[in-house]
Amino acid sequence: MSADRTDATGPTNAVEAHGVEVTLGGSRILLGVDVVVPAGEVVALLGTNGSGKSTLVRALLGAVPLSAGTVHLLGEPLGPRAPWSRIGYVPQRMPASSGVSATAVEVVASGLLHGRALRPPRGWRTRVRAALDAVGMAGHERRPVQEMSGGQQQRVLIARALVREPELLVLDEPTSGIDVPTQATFVDTVARLHGQGATVVVILHELGPFEPLIQRAVVLRHGRVVHDGLPPRPRLDHAGATHHHEHAHHDPDPPPTGPALGPTLGPTLGMEAP
Ligand SMILES: Nc1ncnc2c1ncn2[C@@H]1O[C@H](COP(=O)(O)OP(=O)(O)OP(=O)(O)O)[C@@H](O)[C@H]1O
Ligand SMILES: [Mg+2]
Repeated sequence: MSADRTDATGPTNAVEAHGVEVTLGGSRILLGVDVVVPAGEVVALLGTNGSGKSTLVRALLGAVPLSAGTVHLLGEPLGPRAPWSRIGYVPQRMPASSGVSATAVEVVASGLLHGRALRPPRGWRTRVRAALDAVGMAGHERRPVQEMSGGQQQRVLIARALVREPELLVLDEPTSGIDVPTQATFVDTVARLHGQGATVVVILHELGPFEPLIQRAVVLRHGRVVHDGLPPRPRLDHAGATHHHEHAHHDPDPPPTGPALGPTLGPTLGMEAP
């Protein structure tokens, strides 16, 4: 145990994971992953399909068991003392329908319930409405989420995480399947939370509208961290509309900092320009 995990102003690291190993279905998915996210930082988690990004955030949040390693969230070890009420999580997909029809308001309000709190706090309706507004879903309060499109369901999940005003926000590809104007509104909301001191861990395939917010990138490949440092820089020749995808798909190790998002590293990072 580190003696200086917290100081007078709170935890110095929002996420501190060491030697994380996960085995699922007999396959070793994560092999000794170390991730430390200082409080207040915005970190992108990158990597190709199947590299282990979702499994890593699920492991960090205690949703899949670790076969080795330690995780602390906001200074507390995973387990009953972990400060879940201060953490917001947006999964990659809507959990499978339970058959129970819930409206957008009910799903978002569930983000305000935790532990033994069976009733939402005072003023919850205003907070729920503001969270739905932040994802462009004002006016959909009473609609059952099962009847919504995939992108609309994703927006409701984001609102459920935002409504807590979390200190640690963990997002798994939050903008995939969401239209561009809504992405911009959502990124503004994440920027506001960050401005208030929140820590953000976001899984992305392209930095896209998050690019100005991202301070660091952690890149996974085959369940290992292969880069931890500056985020990839979009290359000028990828920015133009005339760019053609004629990359040689090498798979080199990224340099220690600031990989260019270019012909060789783009595929490694799972970050092709559109
Ligand atoms: N419950 C499970 N049982 C067995 N294998 C699993 C399970 N969940 C994930 N995996 C495997 O773990 C590996 C990593 O999956 P994961 O979902 O973490 O990847 P990812 O980086 O999030 O990919 P994507 O970009 O496609 O979302 C994949 O090979 C996947 O098949
Ligand atoms: Mg994933």
